[in-house]
Amino acid sequence: MLKIDEFVELARSRKSCKGRFKSDPIPDGYIEKILEAARWAMSGANGQPWEFIVVKEQDTKDKIADALRKQNELSGWIETSRVIEMRMPWFRKFPEVFPEPQYRTAPAIIVICADPRASQATTLDRVYDYRWVILENICMATQILHLAVAACGLRSQFVTVNFLTEQLIKPILGIPPIIRIFSLAPIGYPEKEPPRSFRRKIEEFVHYEKYDLSKCRSHADIQEFIRELREKSEALYPLES
Ligand SMILES: Cc1cc2nc3c(=O)[nH]c(=O)nc-3n(C[C@H](O)[C@H](O)[C@H](O)COP(=O)(O)O)c2cc1C
Repeated sequence: MLKIDEFVELARSRKSCKGRFKSDPIPDGYIEKILEAARWAMSGANGQPWEFIVVKEQDTKDKIADALRKQNELSGWIETSRVIEMRMPWFRKFPEVFPEPQYRTAPAIIVICADPRASQATTLDRVYDYRWVILENICMATQILHLAVAACGLRSQFVTVNFLTEQLIKPILGIPPIIRIFSLAPIGYPEKEPPRSFRRKIEEFVHYEKYDLSKCRSHADIQEFIRELREKSEALYPLES
């Protein structure tokens, strides 16, 4: 059994790879173990709405990356409405510098989907809010999946799939209309080990017994936090063509 210090170390050691992946294959059996770990995620009333599609064929990975390129174009144009220092680092120089999806060379992309009908497992009051229930459930499985990737000595990326890209990816993979896509997880070995990202200090966000109002940030504090976050995160967002 994993000891708590080993578990904390695993959580700390997981890092997103936002740069290129080597094309080196994933050792046999690792993907199955990663999915086995995700299978044991918690879910509301044990509804287990998740569906995972493992994509290894280059042509399919390219089609998915092309769809994500369109998402980046939309995100990029929307980001240009922000002052530069508040933009996501990838889009600081957009449209002159275009953030290309970097995971075409990843040996596998896991497409993380869910069947919303499975939210009926929970009490019906929650089903009125079914998007929220599905999101909660899919987050549980997604986090385990990314931790399991780290436990295999591999790296992954959490690639958000927005409403536009979902429509573009569904026909590529033959996904039925009822099934929703939430994110992609390209998996493999990074070309360059990603830098460690930053985390808030524990005393800033943990409260004991009651919410400590002295820790509640003002609107200006949040803006300043994002400004600092952007500065600290720049190296995490490589811009390679
Ligand atoms: C809801 C959510 C959406 C995310 N979307 C993306 C994404 O679209 N592209 C990406 O590269 N990383 C994405 N990430 C990963 C975060 O950028 C990353 O976890 C964060 O910067 C901390 O870095 P770390 O994972 O290396 O600790 C997302 C993570 C979450 C939880």
